[in-house]
Amino acid sequence: MTTRILTGITTTGTPHLGNYAGAIRPAVVASRAADADSFYFLADYHALIKCDDPLRIQRSRLEIAATWLACGLDPTKVTFYRQSDIPEIPELCWLLTCVAGKGLLNRAHAYKASVDKNVAAGEDPDAGVTMGLFSYPVLMAADILMFNAHKVPVGRDQIQHVEMARDIGQRFNHLFGQVRELFTLSEAVVEESVATLPGLDGRKMSKSYDNTIPLFGSAKQLKDAVARIVTDSKLPGEAKDADNSHLFTLYQAFATPEQAAIFRAELLDGLGWGDAKQRLTALLETELGAAREHYNTLIARPADLEDILLAGAAKARRMATPFLGELREAVGLRSFREQVSVQKTPKKKADKAARFVSFRDEGGFRFRLLDSDGTQLLLSDVFADGKTAGAVSKRLQAGEGCVQAEAERVALVLEGVCVAAAALPANETERVAFMQRLSAALTPPDVE
Ligand code: TRP
Repeated sequence: MTTRILTGITTTGTPHLGNYAGAIRPAVVASRAADADSFYFLADYHALIKCDDPLRIQRSRLEIAATWLACGLDPTKVTFYRQSDIPEIPELCWLLTCVAGKGLLNRAHAYKASVDKNVAAGEDPDAGVTMGLFSYPVLMAADILMFNAHKVPVGRDQIQHVEMARDIGQRFNHLFGQVRELFTLSEAVVEESVATLPGLDGRKMSKSYDNTIPLFGSAKQLKDAVARIVTDSKLPGEAKDADNSHLFTLYQAFATPEQAAIFRAELLDGLGWGDAKQRLTALLETELGAAREHYNTLIARPADLEDILLAGAAKARRMATPFLGELREAVGLRSFREQVSVQKTPKKKADKAARFVSFRDEGGFRFRLLDSDGTQLLLSDVFADGKTAGAVSKRLQAGEGCVQAEAERVALVLEGVCVAAAALPANETERVAFMQRLSAALTPPDVE
């Protein structure tokens, strides 16, 4: 069985080394596993919640798409697309919005943080809060549930959102999943082994701390950033404490254990910080140099990137379109055409099920009750004229008759008089089956 892995990348900003080590590299490795069915997408609708600068949105989508491909994501093996190329996602988002509890969303961290900040500042609690921010977790639930992902690799700050997707999916299943369980409930996966990279100043590498090392800047930008890494003031020749140096932590994140052991020994031996920075720069060049070239080629050909992403969207929609159709059905957004035929079908069946056929023989006028397959269920007594026979069969058709089973025979009685009868099979099972067919045949269509 394959495991479906899905994750989104919000397209604000330019990827840095921390994103690479923490998300991109492990995701690319995971996507190569034989049993992985991976979905990676640019969460550009989510980006709109945080950013109202169209040029930045445009630039960031392009850069992030090129980054993932340059880092080795294979779009023929995985499904790689832009969220905004899948119209089924906002449509599903609305279906989910209609079942998501407002109270649940009130508890979302991102929204709560904004409210707390406003309250602390003496402002209206919802000042500056858009519906986009408030509903952020519902859109994310749509991303996840649309493709029934099993596993969702995310950072710690996103675990709550994945749990909300489970809650919302479960509620939808409960309300509309009578025919089949509609949504898979996915699990957040937080990679414990993945390094959280320290930034230039030793705090977590993050755009908001302005302490990042750009992933695909020029070789010079890389060198300059590394030069700005804060170290202690020990001079060359003095022993350095590798384990308390974030320069070493950065080195370790990209080195083999052997390389790291050698570097540690050299630092302890008095390697100068200037030399140490050169070693780190060289290591990063080895890790990223080829990918950077690939990145620059991709960025220079945006039309090719567009084609790759549109092909990814087409692939994703081959799944999303029929699934959304099923979800629309489930909530009652159904074609009127089907509705007409739904009403017609049982009527047709009923018409066929009970057929009274009149005929005349030597004795007089009679009728038979035929089952849908034409076999005779009952034969009537003889009536003096066709009119009486017709009137009796009409009343039986309307459900007025009373079935009386005896040992070997079943009689149909109308106002105390037996009007039709049949021999009952001796076999118990056959007898029960016969009685069921008879009773179904005698049930008027609109009672059913
Ligand atoms: N909110 C996620 C983040 O900021 C990005 C994201 C959007 C996502 N949709 C998703 C992640 C669906 C996982 C699954 O990191």
